[in-house]
Amino acid sequence: MLARTALTSKLAGFGTTIFAEMSALAVETGAINLGQGFPDTDGPPEVLDAAVAAIRSGVNQYPPGLGAPELRQAIADHQRRFYGIELDPSTEIVVTAGATEALAGALLGMLDAGDEVVVFEPMYDSYQACIALAGARAVPVLLAPDNEGRYVFDPADLRAAVTERTKLILLNTPHNPTGKVFTVDELATIAEVALERDLIVVTDEVYEHLLFDDRQHVPISTLPSMAERTLTISSGGKTFNTTGWKVGWVSGPEPLVTAARTAKQFLTYVNGAPFQPAMAVGLALPDAYFEGLVAELQTARDHLVGGLRAAGFTTYEPEATYFATVDIRPVDPTGDGMAFCRSLPQRCGVVAVPNEVFYARAEHGRHLVRFACCKRLEVIDAAVERLIEGVSR
Ligand SMILES: Cc1ncc(COP(=O)(O)O)c(C=O)c1O
Repeated sequence: MLARTALTSKLAGFGTTIFAEMSALAVETGAINLGQGFPDTDGPPEVLDAAVAAIRSGVNQYPPGLGAPELRQAIADHQRRFYGIELDPSTEIVVTAGATEALAGALLGMLDAGDEVVVFEPMYDSYQACIALAGARAVPVLLAPDNEGRYVFDPADLRAAVTERTKLILLNTPHNPTGKVFTVDELATIAEVALERDLIVVTDEVYEHLLFDDRQHVPISTLPSMAERTLTISSGGKTFNTTGWKVGWVSGPEPLVTAARTAKQFLTYVNGAPFQPAMAVGLALPDAYFEGLVAELQTARDHLVGGLRAAGFTTYEPEATYFATVDIRPVDPTGDGMAFCRSLPQRCGVVAVPNEVFYARAEHGRHLVRFACCKRLEVIDAAVERLIEGVSR
């Protein structure tokens, strides 16, 4: 029998993700799964057809290491069209296996053991794991609701989090799980700190096309003097309802892109050959596509938020993304989100995710629970009905 521990000590404490546990519970109980953030409708037919055509025409072997040239060109065109950003597709863009690999490539490619990374908590769950794999340390800055229910951070906390060991700030806007869109003022505060302390900013913008109520996405790389120190990450999964394709990308100045690519090439090398030209088709779709996508999701957001409020939760209205966060304490005074989510499928036939898994300091998220709105309206309405009926019983 093997006597030693198989798992690297760097990943001690990173067990099976809560999404696997909750999705298994959904299957076991037949509950409606508002836990994991994946849409239950297909993406635009032009994009799906392009992938099928690529497979049929033999685009099935390793694509170029940097990614298919037509996709890199489409990413450059997209960044210019939506944000006025100019990129050289031959040196400033690399295609990755989703934003997840982009994050891993960036963090493993840039961090040394002992380095520190300033992160806003709560955060997407791969951030802490990748920082740990790099032997670095995540230093959290808390995002918490203000009196109006808007998630904010204290600039003093951000400044206090930066030390001599800080190498980069890891930002995510629009933000999962809170649905927050960082305002231009907030981005300017982050930029000021990055400039003062000579920090790199790695920014995860996978929800860049899912902003509600006519909000505009502002990439932090467009702020003065930030382009040269910002690595931008995005992917096509959320924008084209193709989360299973895992086509993402990094873009920015050559030294930062090269650092991420150097690690990335030893992770997957390349991925998704036939999906890459299909993503290029998606990125070039007319404005009407992007407007329709967000209009539909906003309606779903409204149904979900209205329903969660009717069920008695304190509900923080998301400004963007697939998710709404609630405070469960009005319906469950124990405020134990983990226990609440574990019993919810049996009690109500609905699956949600406890936000504490998104925090470096779990106590800050103990009473919070996340529901996904990226589902068909009838699915959301059915889930909401069950919650209104069952949650406070
Ligand atoms: C903030 C954030 N970043 C990255 C990802 C992963 O993106 P991808 O599926 O392209 O790897 C997600 C997916 O949920 C996310 O919410």
